[in-house]
Amino acid sequence: MNIRAVVRGIGHYLPERIVENVEFEKTLDTSDEWIRTRSGIERRHFAAEGETTSMLGAKAAQAALLDAKMQASDLDAIIVATSTPDLTFPSVGTMIQKEIGMTSGFAFDVQAVCAGFIYALSNANAQIISGQAKRVMVVGAETFSRIMDWEDRSTCVLFGDGAGALILEAQEGEGNSEDRGILSVDLNSDGSYRDMLYVNGGVSSTGTSGKLQMQGNALFRQAVQKLASTAQTALEKANISSDEIDWVVPHQANIRIIEGTAKKLGLPMDKVVVTVQDHGNTSAASIPLAMSVGRERGQIKDGDICVAEAIGGGLAWGAVVLRW
Ligand code: UT7
Repeated sequence: MNIRAVVRGIGHYLPERIVENVEFEKTLDTSDEWIRTRSGIERRHFAAEGETTSMLGAKAAQAALLDAKMQASDLDAIIVATSTPDLTFPSVGTMIQKEIGMTSGFAFDVQAVCAGFIYALSNANAQIISGQAKRVMVVGAETFSRIMDWEDRSTCVLFGDGAGALILEAQEGEGNSEDRGILSVDLNSDGSYRDMLYVNGGVSSTGTSGKLQMQGNALFRQAVQKLASTAQTALEKANISSDEIDWVVPHQANIRIIEGTAKKLGLPMDKVVVTVQDHGNTSAASIPLAMSVGRERGQIKDGDICVAEAIGGGLAWGAVVLRW
């Protein structure tokens, strides 16, 4: 008997306020054309004043429960991937737990920046296959608008806010690639790339939350190579060949990174879920948002093989192969 972590439901939430690229032309030396052609981004959502990461995450969690036809009391755990928590502590996980009315089980946060959802999925998978938990809600929720330097045109036009949530449940499988659920995980990090993407503040250094700093071009080159490589490794671990892939669900940072990675994997763009034009880069929320939108659009169907891959600050990167 092999226990698999199988997807039972998914949902997302995007803040109401949509900001089109042209808005930035009013305050910065930039253009809709530059943002579109260099990143593929056309618009993004920004949280309202007072709207926090846990609020976005709780709404996505409610949507996932509805999709799974479950109650909060059916869950054993909530794992939240975020780098923009409401407070230094308690965790966003426990805040979402309270908000959705879950009074037992456990909740915590995982911090691996844009790769956070992959790390959180890996953790949820481990909780499930070790028998620690039967049903785990995995949330990616971010308010990156709070850590933008609005005078830095090379970063502030790229990011957005939002949340997505996925419910995984323990189910028996055969132990082969025909099983539904998470089939493999590949995680990597290399702290020597620290300066490529970081926030210049924090509790034990400046006592402030800081602003995002990025060497975009250098990171771009690392991203395509590392994303293709981690996806390949995860596919090998799952014993899945590239022609068996139904959908790649990439981290939505830049359409050129998404296209470059798909090309390296030998996959056409009609097998890639793309939401970067509407969401921008929502860090740990970008993969569950893309999965949820991909389900709504009718792209990802039950039984489909999906490869999710992401890279971000650390650098930290990784991939998950799952059969929906
Ligand atoms: O989520 C974590 C992972 N994140 C990523 O993987 C992001 C990776 N990087 C990227 O997506 C791209 O590198 C960017 C979209 C950030 C930048 O695109 P690029 O093609 O690498 O441009 P660049 O940084 O080489 O900049 C080209 C030019 C520069 O001007 P000069 O030096 O050539 O005169 C920049 O100053 O574009 C300029 N520039 C802008 N111009 C207009 C930078 N930002 C802007 C802007 N509007 N917003």
